[in-house]
Formats: sequence, C-alpha cells, structure tokens
Amino acid sequence: MPFRSLLICVALLTACVPEYNSDCNTEGGLYENVDFKIGTAVAPLELKFNQSYSNLVKDQFNQITPGNAFKPDALQPIQGSFSFNQADELVTFALENHKQIHGHCLVWHNQIPFWLKEFSGSKEQWVTILEKHIKTVVRHFGENVKAWDVVNEAFEDDGSYRETIWYKNIGKEYIQLAFEFAHKANPNALLFYNDYNIAAKTKKCEAILEHLNELVENGVPVHGIGMQLHISINYPSESKIETAAKTIANNGFLVHFSEVDVSVNPNGGGVNLSDRILNRQSEKYVQLAEIYKMLPVENQYAFTTWGVSDLDSWIPSYFGREDYPLLFDYNYEPKPAYCALNETLGQ
Ligand code: G3I
Repeated sequence: MPFRSLLICVALLTACVPEYNSDCNTEGGLYENVDFKIGTAVAPLELKFNQSYSNLVKDQFNQITPGNAFKPDALQPIQGSFSFNQADELVTFALENHKQIHGHCLVWHNQIPFWLKEFSGSKEQWVTILEKHIKTVVRHFGENVKAWDVVNEAFEDDGSYRETIWYKNIGKEYIQLAFEFAHKANPNALLFYNDYNIAAKTKKCEAILEHLNELVENGVPVHGIGMQLHISINYPSESKIETAAKTIANNGFLVHFSEVDVSVNPNGGGVNLSDRILNRQSEKYVQLAEIYKMLPVENQYAFTTWGVSDLDSWIPSYFGREDYPLLFDYNYEPKPAYCALNETLGQ
C-alpha cells in the first residue's frame, strides 16, 4: 500500500509535526466488520469542543473509555462530595451516538483525590471509603455503564502486590472487596481487572491469574482482564502477547486489549518517522488485531486504543519525549497503522 508521509510546520508549535496521506477507505469505521467492540479513550471536553475529534469517535469506534473523567480524583474531589457533571456529559454523548461505555477505573493508586492521600484511619474506615466510592459511582451510572475496570494495576512487574494506599491500609483483600462492592451496586455489569506489562512480564501475569482465579473459585465476580498493551514497535514480541492473551482466555476470563498504543520512540531522542518505522508500527497493530481475532469468541470483549490521535497521547507529557503511538495524526487524518489495522479487522 503506498503511503506518503511529509513534514509540515504548524504555526503554534515550535517543532515540525508529521502529517500522513494514507489513502485507505475510512468509511464504515474500524468497528464495522468485527463482533467485539472497538474502543478508544476519550476526554469529555474534546468530545464537546473538538469537532474533528468527536467525528472520528462517532465514525470509527463503538465503545468509549473515559481516559480520566471517571477516576476517583475527578468523581470525588472532596470527601463525600461527588462531581458527575463532566462524566455525565460523556454519558450523554455515548447515549446519543450509541456507544457503549467501559468505566475506568474504580480503584487505582494514581489520580486519587488529595483528601484521600492525606487520610489516616482504621482499616474499617478505609473499607468504608472504598465501599462508598465504588457503590456511589457504579449506582450513579447504572445501566449506562455496562462494564468497569474495578481494580487497576495492583501488581508489580515481579508479581508482588503493589504497595498502594489500599494495600497498606486494608491488605490484599481490598481487591476482593472492590469486586464485591461493584457487583452489589450493579449485578449486571462486567467487572475487569486491568494492568500493564501483562504480556511482557510472565511473573506479573501469573500472579494476577493466581489471585483472580482464587477469587473466582470463592464466588467473587471477576469477569475479565484488561491487558493495557502500552507497547512499542520493538517490544514485547508477538509470541509473548499471544501467549498471555491465550492464557487469560484459557483461564476463562474475557480479554480486553484495553489501552493499546504503539510507541515509535521508546528510548527517547529524536524521531525519524521513516517508512520503515511507520511500517513497524502498522505491523504491531496488525499483530495485535490478529491475536485478538484468534481468541475464542466467548473470550472476546473489546480492542481499545488509548486515545484517538497522536495529539491525545499521554506518552509525550508523561515521559517527556516525542512520540506518535496512535492511529490518527495531529490533523485527525488516518496514519498507515490505521489503514493496516482496518484492513486486518475487515478480513
Ligand atoms: O486535570 C489537570 C488539570 O487541572 C491541569 O491543569 C493539568 C496540567 O498538567 O493537569 C491535569 O491533570 C492531568 C490529567 O492527566 C488530566 O489531563 C495530569 O497532569 C496527568 O498526569 C494525567 O495523565 C493521565 C495519566 O493516566 C495519569 O496517571 C493520562 O491523561 C491518562 O491517559 C493516563 O491513563 C493511564 C490509565 O488510566 C491507566 N493505565 C496507564 C495509563 C497511562 O498512564
């Protein structure tokens, strides 16, 4: 497929930014030919004020994950005082445009409100806070949010428990409690555990499965596992990703490729967006789609990119490096990776 990429300088940016002319058909959207959902992480203000962005979300995806708007710091900024305005705007967008919402996330160690960081109390008080947050949020959204990332990133790469405020103050049973509270608040919702490096770090994958299998054996409702898949053009290998996804499916869980992006500049430094690099990025997206499509249908749930265009990516600001990990460029035009992924999904 002939792809051309060229550099244009955007007036307000000091650097040159890449623009692509990828001549593939975008009609019908990425989700048109598959039975699982194709999602993307979204921001309510972008949906509201950025027409190019919201058009792409409407046209290309049939599921949305709030990138930040459903996190505890956004929803409960003051203890006991919940703030749902922006999150509700996102729900309105989803309802109006027939998009399913994947709720993200009820319990995490990052993006917790200031009052919670400062809180000091007994184990019982911490459990009460956990219960109140989860039940209030899940009940608020009710049937408008049919699936939740209940616990996010509870394990370290070596398989040990991450020493989060929840772990330190409640113990590892905070994980079980969180799933039980979410299930009580909405017994119909699909409940996920979500983490990064599940494919790259075997010990982490094993520890997660061991913990979640034990919960399921004890009747705790855990339905799926989100493999975030913040990967790069070099790493991890296709076989590692395939092994992890199949193992999760074999253990009876839904598999969510939940936060896909493919870094072209994992080691930092300057980026030369050559055809070779763009092709490597396309290949990685294709590998992911092929692996996902090979999973048993009953274990498929959704394939979600972490952002719409390269402008939305968390990577440049978080790591302080130039990067172009997503499917659309700064002008909301499709990149080669979009065309390759779309073709694979359509096969
Ligand atoms: O809301 C404030 C705003 O008031 C302030 O003016 C601005 C100035 O920096 O910061 C805003 O907060 C930022 C927030 O995103 C909302 O834009 C934070 O600084 C920034 O750190 C935060 O980054 C988010 C990151 O999680 C935080 O850990 C990313 O957008 C979000 O994409 C990312 O998502 C996580 C998933 O939830 C879990 N898996 C990893 C993934 C990537 O880190």
